[in-house]
Amino acid sequence: MKLKKNDQIELVCTDLSDQGFGIGHLDGMTIFVSDLLPGEKAKVRIIKTNKSWAIGKTVERLTESPDRVQPVCEKADACGGCSLMHLAYPAQLERKEKQLKDLFGRVDEQIQVLPPIGMDQPLHYRNKAQFPIGVIDGKSVGGFYRPRTNTIVPIRTCAIQSDKINEIYQWMLDHLSTVQAQSLRHLLVRHSFKTGEVLVVLIGPENLGFESLAKALKKDHPEVAGVIWNKNERNDNVILGEEYEVLEGKDSLHEKCLDLDIDLHFKSFFQVNPAQMEKLYTCALDLASLQPEDRVIELYSGTGTIGLLASRKAREVIGVEIVPEAVENAKANARANHIENAQFVCMDASEFAARNSSAADVVMVDPPRKGMSEQGIRDIVRLSPRKIVYISCNPRTLARDLGLFKADGYRCNVIQPVDMFPYTSGMECVALLEKEISTKS
Ligand SMILES: C[S@@+](CC[C@H](N)C(=O)[O-])C[C@H]1O[C@@H](n2cnc3c(N)ncnc32)[C@H](O)[C@@H]1O
Repeated sequence: MKLKKNDQIELVCTDLSDQGFGIGHLDGMTIFVSDLLPGEKAKVRIIKTNKSWAIGKTVERLTESPDRVQPVCEKADACGGCSLMHLAYPAQLERKEKQLKDLFGRVDEQIQVLPPIGMDQPLHYRNKAQFPIGVIDGKSVGGFYRPRTNTIVPIRTCAIQSDKINEIYQWMLDHLSTVQAQSLRHLLVRHSFKTGEVLVVLIGPENLGFESLAKALKKDHPEVAGVIWNKNERNDNVILGEEYEVLEGKDSLHEKCLDLDIDLHFKSFFQVNPAQMEKLYTCALDLASLQPEDRVIELYSGTGTIGLLASRKAREVIGVEIVPEAVENAKANARANHIENAQFVCMDASEFAARNSSAADVVMVDPPRKGMSEQGIRDIVRLSPRKIVYISCNPRTLARDLGLFKADGYRCNVIQPVDMFPYTSGMECVALLEKEISTKS
């Protein structure tokens, strides 16, 4: 029987995809169903088919997994941001561990995937939100986009954002006129859990009297360190534009990470889960086991946080990052923390690796989701480091890159997953790669 759109079938879910869909099989087809958990049986309506796979929607659940929980967010289904809201947290960690073991086992059986480091309180953990803003039924609204659309699912509160971010966001929704909301594209809010400071960025093509809004916000919320208008006239999915104007206070936030003081520009990258970030960096540095004479190169260094922590244990650190504001942050952060053996360069990471001819003892990389280029990997290998510590927020590109490193003589022995994104399908990993000793004589 060939499945067709609108067919109704009974399906037993046997696995969970890395996007959080339940997986079942029927007549040689793989069927992906949202809101279905392994072990559950359901009546499913087919909404899309392809040659070997189909997408279905649960019509009625016939049995229920003991790991199913009531989502704490009533918009979880529509919003699509948290694809695992219906799964108990310990079971989320077990699932993620299994998926990572399957994925990395296919690259190299030797890789040991350690149990993920989870959170004790896995809600309200995020320090940054980017809410799309608009007008629905004559009211200013914000929220998140329905998956694969530009339709806003209106929300007033998000279960994974910090309480402070929700509070500031609600204040903005209550004070934005519909004319302002219609023009705005996004509202970005950043919050430091450690210092309490908040940064608010209004993103859109025009400044529609945002000064008075900024003043009123600052008056009601003195913890707001800065309000910024970021000009973005683009019509694509790039959130931030180049130009900006500070309406109140400053364009950066005072943040802390372990014992470091961090100046964080609103354009600079920073890990979104500060509690897990500290565990991630501690783990990355433990795996690097730096020696006092080591020369460390840190590629994709952001505001320099990892490099600055590494500089306390090594002789010299060079950080490389492409966003100028982040490099300025990193340099200022070195000065503010009285660190003299760390330098930061504004350059494409691959270009730096290609141009740099002096060897490195340890290379630390933390690229964006797309991972590294083949040439970039070859250029790192040419630096002949003793160890490479690879931090990644995308297990798939990490797996691909570990395969390329292996072909060039660097094998990964151990991966430590750190759950930076509870209730979502995301996972952060730290991989340790070491040079293989050649057995050829
Ligand atoms: C995942 S973040 C890591 C930042 C930093 N290690 C941290 O943990 O805060 C990746 C960083 O790579 C930077 N980046 C992206 N493409 C780059 C490139 N081609 N060369 C250098 N840096 C790049 C981004 O701006 C971002 O700061």
